[in-house]
Amino acid sequence: MEQFDFRRMSFYQIWIRSFADGNGDGIGDLYGVYDKLDYIASLGVDGIWFSPIYPSPNADYGYDISDYRNIHPDYGTLDEFRKVLDRAHALGLRVIMDLVINHTSDEHPWFLESRKSRTGPYSDYYIWRDPKWKGESRLPPNNWFSQFEGLAWEYCPEREQYYLHVFAKKQPDLNMDNPRVREEVKGIMRFWLDMGVDGFREDVITYISKHPQLPDGIPFLPIINGQPYYKDGPNLVDYLREFRAVAKEYGALQIGEAPMTPVKTALTYLTGEDRVLDMMIQFDTMGADCFMTEYLHHPFFLPKLKHAFSKWQYALAGKAWNALYLENHDHPRVISRYGSEEFRRESGTMLAAAYIFQQGTPFIYQGQELGMTNIRLGSIEEYEDVATKNAYHSFRRRQTEEKRLRHVHLASRDSARTPVQWNSSPNAGFSDVKPWFSVNPNYPEVNAEKEEADPQSVLHFYRRCLRLRKGSDTLLWGDYREYFPQHPHLYVYERSCGTERILVVCSFSKKEQSWKLPKGYAWEGCTLLLCNYAEEPVPERLRPYEARVLRWGGT
Ligand code: GLC
Ligand code: CA
Repeated sequence: MEQFDFRRMSFYQIWIRSFADGNGDGIGDLYGVYDKLDYIASLGVDGIWFSPIYPSPNADYGYDISDYRNIHPDYGTLDEFRKVLDRAHALGLRVIMDLVINHTSDEHPWFLESRKSRTGPYSDYYIWRDPKWKGESRLPPNNWFSQFEGLAWEYCPEREQYYLHVFAKKQPDLNMDNPRVREEVKGIMRFWLDMGVDGFREDVITYISKHPQLPDGIPFLPIINGQPYYKDGPNLVDYLREFRAVAKEYGALQIGEAPMTPVKTALTYLTGEDRVLDMMIQFDTMGADCFMTEYLHHPFFLPKLKHAFSKWQYALAGKAWNALYLENHDHPRVISRYGSEEFRRESGTMLAAAYIFQQGTPFIYQGQELGMTNIRLGSIEEYEDVATKNAYHSFRRRQTEEKRLRHVHLASRDSARTPVQWNSSPNAGFSDVKPWFSVNPNYPEVNAEKEEADPQSVLHFYRRCLRLRKGSDTLLWGDYREYFPQHPHLYVYERSCGTERILVVCSFSKKEQSWKLPKGYAWEGCTLLLCNYAEEPVPERLRPYEARVLRWGGT
């Protein structure tokens, strides 16, 4: 079947537990989603990506799946999902699901069987290895750390073997080298595609093929020392090709999450005759205020962000298509990172312009369009995320409690997992009862109702950006070019197509900045398409976090 044109589209990401509670138990659900579909469509997006909504013991909030063909009872039923899907389609919204097949939950029936013995039908579904012995001491098969929770191996007395978990203990890695596991994956894909979903966001898909020898990694590198041996592995493209064949039958979209995959490798998945992925979620743009992980924080450095943006824009130009994002459920809120909470509206709108007008398909994470910011919690016990708790216990142990919590607040995924703030009524209108997780206390000021009422709000600006992008061939397809890459406060990029040139000018500064047009430009003939301030701009002066979209030529 022919594929729809995902390049014109933009997506809204739902992390359901915190989206909207429709049945009054304090947990977001599909009833809540159903009620908000008109709102989502009103943004001008064209699709929804659902983070996992399947049954899960929630060791990693849905990314530990115990049944791939059902809906978590907290969120509803398959019938309710079908209702949401039909209504979304009627509103012109495509729906893509999260396909999490690097690992399952340790409560998935496959794993419950697999752990029983070395000879059962499921015994080879996961990555089991014998211990290493040093005299009398039993050691794990290699020195890898997991990304979430201690070592990457857990001992299982029934088999007298260890299983691999690149993430949490309750997330055993599947053995994708087993053809039966790959058949299972294809079956899962068909199940959802037959129901009518339009594609998948494929979770850490670049991790599914492990180096056959599972060699030791660098001993002192924390968290990702095994990554060279499980990322972009030897059989990855072959396996992806198999999944691609299924997707192709349905014309389904495939977006792969690819932590730390370099551009050059990315191109091998995104180009060529047997392109195995349509788009990739890269991580470079998440690193402008940290080193490798948000827990190794450093002050935000704009040139690093711009370098990441431009690297992907230039490398994929004419060859592949970018997935554009500044937030998702794995990262803190972008205003709190790359913008300023003090200039919430200004920086929230500017950041929208900074990424939506690049070449690619924009993704917006729930609440991002409302200008939501990081929550500050009072103690580590109030956090939910397994990765957060582990990072808290691993990093900066010699610092004061206060400093450590400040880092958690800056770095935690939970900072962006608070309930969506719909209005200023109790619980931010998310639920009638106390929500499952803390609501950001700024909800009386920051909420959808207020944003709707203010024509200059972050919300309205997102709508304007998406509308402008969709109506402009230059913004959709035009060439990208960056100016002043070393400038510490300004991000200036051009999109051009035929005789039309559009310049996007973004100030990342709390102070006024003076600036000049790039060489080859003159103010004459310039039209202002969009600005995040209501008052007329002064041509060569930018207000704090000002964003302007300027046009020359064209029709
Ligand atoms: C991806 C998901 C993240 C999850 C991890 C393990 O990075 O986005 O939320 O914890 O994979 O599944
Ligand atoms: Ca609920």
